[in-house]
Amino acid sequence: MPILAIESSCDETSVAIIKDGKILSNIISSQYFHSKYGGVIPELASRAHLKSISDIYHQALEESKLSIKDIEAIAVTNQPGLMGSLVVGTNFAKGLALRNNLPIIPINHIEGHIYSSYLENSDYDFPSVALVVSGGHTALFYVKSYSEYEIIGLTRDDAAGEAFDKVSKLMGLGYPGGPLIDKLAKEGNPNFVEFPRSMINSGDFDFSFSGLKTSFRYFIQKNFEGEIDLKSKQDLAASVQSAIVDVLVAKTIKAAKKYKVKTIAVSGGVSANSELRLKMNESGNKIKIKVAFPSIRLSMDNAAMIGFLAEKKYINSTQDDFRNFTFVASSNSLRARYR
Ligand code: KG4
Ligand code: ZN
Repeated sequence: MPILAIESSCDETSVAIIKDGKILSNIISSQYFHSKYGGVIPELASRAHLKSISDIYHQALEESKLSIKDIEAIAVTNQPGLMGSLVVGTNFAKGLALRNNLPIIPINHIEGHIYSSYLENSDYDFPSVALVVSGGHTALFYVKSYSEYEIIGLTRDDAAGEAFDKVSKLMGLGYPGGPLIDKLAKEGNPNFVEFPRSMINSGDFDFSFSGLKTSFRYFIQKNFEGEIDLKSKQDLAASVQSAIVDVLVAKTIKAAKKYKVKTIAVSGGVSANSELRLKMNESGNKIKIKVAFPSIRLSMDNAAMIGFLAEKKYINSTQDDFRNFTFVASSNSLRARYR
């Protein structure tokens, strides 16, 4: 049952076709032009989605060698995200579904990330602890099945990806900062500065990254004047990265032990981080719990993860469950559900 999925919640426009849990196509177009502004400009993002979505839809069908007549349902991210960006994807999806008389499956973007590491590791078991780390979210979930999960921890302020991006900006590097810090850190000394590991021993599963950014700013204001030399950039990148990764790994492992899970699933843009992959795998091995990461391409925003989860929901429902076209796009964050 091929499902055509659409993702446009932030600055990636993506259309994928999923059949029986496998990717037939997954076209992702990233809006790199935001880098010159140092962050995503919502109005420009929605205009760029509007410009490219139809082309991306046609490319996805072409690559899958299917036509719209072969598609059984349309899936679309309807929350959370940038309002104007979500509206482009949901309206495109509604138009397609109405014109082709197809059911439509609204999917929560974060839920898409939670299960994205199962797309390429379908043999991994539940229950799992899922860490979703991206530019907009840092959250831990206890996941029982494809339909049952609960939030067990959330960032109280900045997301981990936001911390990477802000620190990168403070060092005069580009946006997105995560990949740049990751690259520089490979040549740096992680013990150069002992940045704070906020809330590492807080006893709950919440996170906080805004203090790290502040302490980083004070450190460079105090110790550097003007342009920071390359060696210091490498050492600073390694030090800040290890502070972020230490907290993410410590909390996830603690949750995995407490909930006695079979799998640790890590996803979202920051899950591409090489140090996070290394440390989480090492720590998971030590306690004999499998660690699942999506491939780098599926760690970023993509429609394949939306289609994958939509198929799971669709299999367990009747077509009538997905004939409701009145759902709306919503920017709602996880916090609204958690607190
Ligand atoms: O999931 P994503 O593509 O979009 C959001 O939903 O936010 O995540 C983007 C975030 C950015 O903050 C970016 O800096 C971060 O993921 N990121 C990384 C790496 N690659 C992307 N952070 C650390 N290391 C990386 N290699
Ligand atoms: Zn995302």
